[in-house]
Amino acid sequence: MNGGIAIVGAGYVGVPLAQVFAEAGHDVLLVETNRERVEQLNRGESYIEDVPSEALGRLVREHGLRATTDYDELRDRDAILIALPTPLSPQREPDLSILRAAAGEIAKRLRAGQLVVLQSTTYPGTTRDCVLPILEQSGLQAGEDFHLAFAPERVDPGNRDWTTKNVTKVVGGITPACTEAAAKLYGSAIDTVHPVSSPEAAELSKLLENIFRSVNIALVNELAQLCERMEIDVWEVLAAAATKPFGFMHFEPGPGLGGHCIPVDPFYLTWKAREFGFYTEFIELAGKVNENMPYFCRSLISQALNHGKERSLKGSKVLVLGVAYKADIGDVRESPALKLIGLLRNAGSEVSYHDPYVPELPEHGLSSVALDPAAYDCVAIVTAHSSIDYDRLVDEAALVVDLRNATGRNGSGNAKVWKL
Ligand SMILES: NC(=O)c1ccc[n+]([C@@H]2O[C@H](COP(=O)([O-])OP(=O)(O)OC[C@H]3O[C@@H](n4cnc5c(N)ncnc54)[C@H](O)[C@@H]3O)[C@@H](O)[C@H]2O)c1
Repeated sequence: MNGGIAIVGAGYVGVPLAQVFAEAGHDVLLVETNRERVEQLNRGESYIEDVPSEALGRLVREHGLRATTDYDELRDRDAILIALPTPLSPQREPDLSILRAAAGEIAKRLRAGQLVVLQSTTYPGTTRDCVLPILEQSGLQAGEDFHLAFAPERVDPGNRDWTTKNVTKVVGGITPACTEAAAKLYGSAIDTVHPVSSPEAAELSKLLENIFRSVNIALVNELAQLCERMEIDVWEVLAAAATKPFGFMHFEPGPGLGGHCIPVDPFYLTWKAREFGFYTEFIELAGKVNENMPYFCRSLISQALNHGKERSLKGSKVLVLGVAYKADIGDVRESPALKLIGLLRNAGSEVSYHDPYVPELPEHGLSSVALDPAAYDCVAIVTAHSSIDYDRLVDEAALVVDLRNATGRNGSGNAKVWKL
C-alpha cells in the first residue's frame, strides 16, 4: 500500500491501532475532530495509557505518524479504518449518528480502489445496511469499485499481555474480495487474522464476546448477593471452583459494570433482535442484575457503618477508593463508582475519592484527595488499582468495605473489613 492508512477516531481504539500499523512500517494518519487531541498527537504526546508518549513520539518523529482534523486528506489513503464511538441513546437504543456523519464525510472523498473497514462495535447489519448505502452515495459500488469490511476491535485497555498486535483480528467483508483485502492489510501488522464469511458474522462475534462477559459477571454478582445472606465468602468459593482445569471460567463479582463496552454493547443486539420478534432474555436479565450492584454495594456500606461504627450513611465520611471503571487505567466512562458516589450522596454521606489515575471528576465537583484512610468513617474499595498498599490501608482505616477482594487474605476474618 503506497498511500498509507487513515484511522478515523483517535481514541482508546484508534491510537493503539495507529501504533501497531506504524510500527509495522505503514504510513499512518489519524483523522480526529478534537483539535486539542490532534495537536497533542502531533507533538508526540499520548493521552492513551497503553501507548506511552515515548513510543508515540518516536513514531511521529521517525515514521511519519501524524494526525489531522481535515477529512480531505482521506483522498490520498489506500485504506480507511473507522474507530468511532457507537453509544446508546438516552432510551438505550443504538446511536449511530457519529458513524453516519463520518461515513457521509468519507463518501464525499471516496475514490476507486480504497478499502474501508468499520471497527466500531455495533449490531449485525450495520456495515451492509447503514455504512454501505452512505458510501455508495459517492457513485462508487462496494465490492466493485471499493472494498468494504467489518473487523471488530478487541482491545482491552491496561492489558499488557494481550494487545492490539497479538489478539487475533476477525474480518468479514461484503464480498470475498473485500474480506481478502482487509485480511491482507491486517495481516501485515497483526499476528493472526481470522476471516469470516460476512460482516454480519464479524459484527455478531464481537457482541457475543461482550454478552458472554456481561452474563457471566451477572451470574457471580447474583451469587455474591446470595453468599452475603448465607454468610459464605464468595471469593473463597470462586477461588475453589477456579481450580477445576476444565468447564469453568473465572469471573469476579463487583460494584457493577463499567467502561464503554460491556454495559452498552449487549443492548445493540437486544434492539436489533426486536426487529425479528425475538427477546434476548439473558442480556436483559444480566443487565438487571448488574445494574442493581451499586445499590447492593451501598447497602453493604450502610450495614458496615451500622455494625462496625454504629453510624448511619447520613453524616458519615466515606472515601471511595478508585473511581476508574477498572484497575490501572484512568477511564471513568460508565464507571459504577460514579453511580455509587451519587447513591451515597443521596443517602447523606460526605463522599471523597482517591484515584491515582483520575485527578478530577468535574461532573461530581470532586478532585482526588490524598490517601489518608484514618480520616474517614469508612473506606470503600471500588476499583483495585495495583499501586495501592492494601495491607497498610487495612491497618490505618477504621472500617473498610472491599468490593473487589483487594485486601485478600488480610481482609478475610478481619472485623473491620467487610467484603462483597
Ligand atoms: N475502548 C475500548 O476498550 C474498546 C474495545 C473494543 C471496542 N471498542 C469500540 O470501538 C469504538 C471506538 O471506541 P473508543 O473507545 O476508541 O472511543 P473513544 O471515545 O476513546 O475515541 C473516539 C474518538 O473519535 C473522535 N471522534 C468523534 N467523532 C468524530 C468524527 N466525526 N470524526 C473523527 N473523529 C471523531 C473522538 O474525539 C475520540 O477521540 C466503539 O464502537 C467502541 O465500542 C472500544
